[in-house]
Amino acid sequence: MTDEAWWRHAVCYQVYVRSFADSDGDGIGDLPGITSRLPYLAELGVDAVWITPFYTSPQHDHGYDVADYRDVDPLFGKLADLDTLLEQAHAHGIRVIVDLVPNHTSEDHDWFRAALAAGPGSPERGRYLFRDGPDAVPSDAVPPNNWESVFGGSAWARVPDGQWYLHLFDATQPDLDWRNPEVPAMFEDVLRFWLDRGVDGFRIDVAHGLFKEPGLPDQRLTDAEREANLAADLLGPQHPEHEPMWDQPEVHDVYRAWRRILDSYPDDRMAVGEAWTRDAASLARYVRPDELHQSFNFHWLSADWSAAQFAAVITETLAAVALVGGSPTWVLSNHDVIRHVTRYGGGTVGLARARAATMTMLALPGSSYLYQGEELGLEEVDVDRAHWQDPQALTTGKPGRDGCRVPLPWSGDAPPFGFGPGSDQPWIPQPAGWSSLTAEAQAEDAESTLAFYRRALSARRTFATTAGDQVELLDLGAKVLTFRRGPVTAVLNCGTTTVAMPDGTVLLASGPLDDGLPPDTAAWLV
Ligand code: NOJ
Repeated sequence: MTDEAWWRHAVCYQVYVRSFADSDGDGIGDLPGITSRLPYLAELGVDAVWITPFYTSPQHDHGYDVADYRDVDPLFGKLADLDTLLEQAHAHGIRVIVDLVPNHTSEDHDWFRAALAAGPGSPERGRYLFRDGPDAVPSDAVPPNNWESVFGGSAWARVPDGQWYLHLFDATQPDLDWRNPEVPAMFEDVLRFWLDRGVDGFRIDVAHGLFKEPGLPDQRLTDAEREANLAADLLGPQHPEHEPMWDQPEVHDVYRAWRRILDSYPDDRMAVGEAWTRDAASLARYVRPDELHQSFNFHWLSADWSAAQFAAVITETLAAVALVGGSPTWVLSNHDVIRHVTRYGGGTVGLARARAATMTMLALPGSSYLYQGEELGLEEVDVDRAHWQDPQALTTGKPGRDGCRVPLPWSGDAPPFGFGPGSDQPWIPQPAGWSSLTAEAQAEDAESTLAFYRRALSARRTFATTAGDQVELLDLGAKVLTFRRGPVTAVLNCGTTTVAMPDGTVLLASGPLDDGLPPDTAAWLV
């Protein structure tokens, strides 16, 4: 690994495989669909793609329930399609990160089927977290502890012989027991399987999970904390110190072992963790030099539209990663959260703020992770209840993550907007009014969000690898975030009145300028 490893400064584009591009007309995106759109991604100017799980899966959590970690689900293609995708992505200079789901398997995984067949006390059950309830009477449906699933309800499901198994997510996603040596051994083989095929890295699902506090003690949330967790738009725990299922110290040994494997391959293979932690300091533990290369920084995403909050996240993040020599990451949207145009208020204001926040993020040192469709300025869609597919929505009865997962509009005037061949709506219906938002419509319009993203990524390339990691925050007023990084000054106006520009020549702005920097606008100056 060199100091200038590619992932330290990358713009990585998240492809939600079901919703990116459909090659065969079944209304669900697939691997050949991604390959067909690589020229679009190259023109956009991204350095890498992260592809969400395409492995064999019954799709109860849309691929985050894996039945075979070493094969491609027929919905998405074949192993040979992945090989083609890798080859062509690399030919375009785009690296490929794949998703790894180690916290749980699908209930359809051979191990879980064997566990059900083998019965209580068997080595097969020992790969998962099977427990007896507190009461020996099987008809007394009291689970082994009070843990709640992230998707709502008890985190325990009962099997016919009376035992319970833990599932921190859907009941179809049984949690593995990472204290059983067969589990880490299996995942080390899986890592090697995909590294041998040529992937450039892994995104680690629920990286702060895996280990649970020994004895599985009750979670100790107050009612207020519990309510706050359920109300949060975020998937992660907000009070991990009271939740014995997250962020246990043993998890770091796993990442040390994985780092040794990654380092044994050429060309800077990497891993980025989805670790929802309480603060930047606990996040930094995941990116110590012998552990994961990066971890998503969800604190940027969860900041309000506030110069002070953005500034605090920058300061804390940089200080925390500096302690361990890590590389910061920034993210505003993904397939689990409400799209940031909508979070910032939607409509014209929401879009202006989204563009401005994105531009500010792109000026920071480290890597930025973009989510498909944000370059088109897509908003969260209010998906009709009849079309809800997200297990979280189906369990809680509240709108879930379907609204950010609507298939992309590529071209044309009506659904499926070039998402795939044919004329039917895709797996989640697209709004009829998306014709002005297609990639085709925006490509020719210099003022479009797509054109803005292309300009921003191109301008970023002129300084991203050379501007250094030092960020100096400047004071231009409480509502204005201003920082200098190398030759670039970035300024973001979170207030309601136009403010004076800092000194310099404007390299790029996120929207029209007047005699200063208007509200909800960002600029880079050199
Ligand atoms: C995080 C993934 O991003 C999310 O989509 C999934 O539902 C959970 N992990 C469970 O795997």
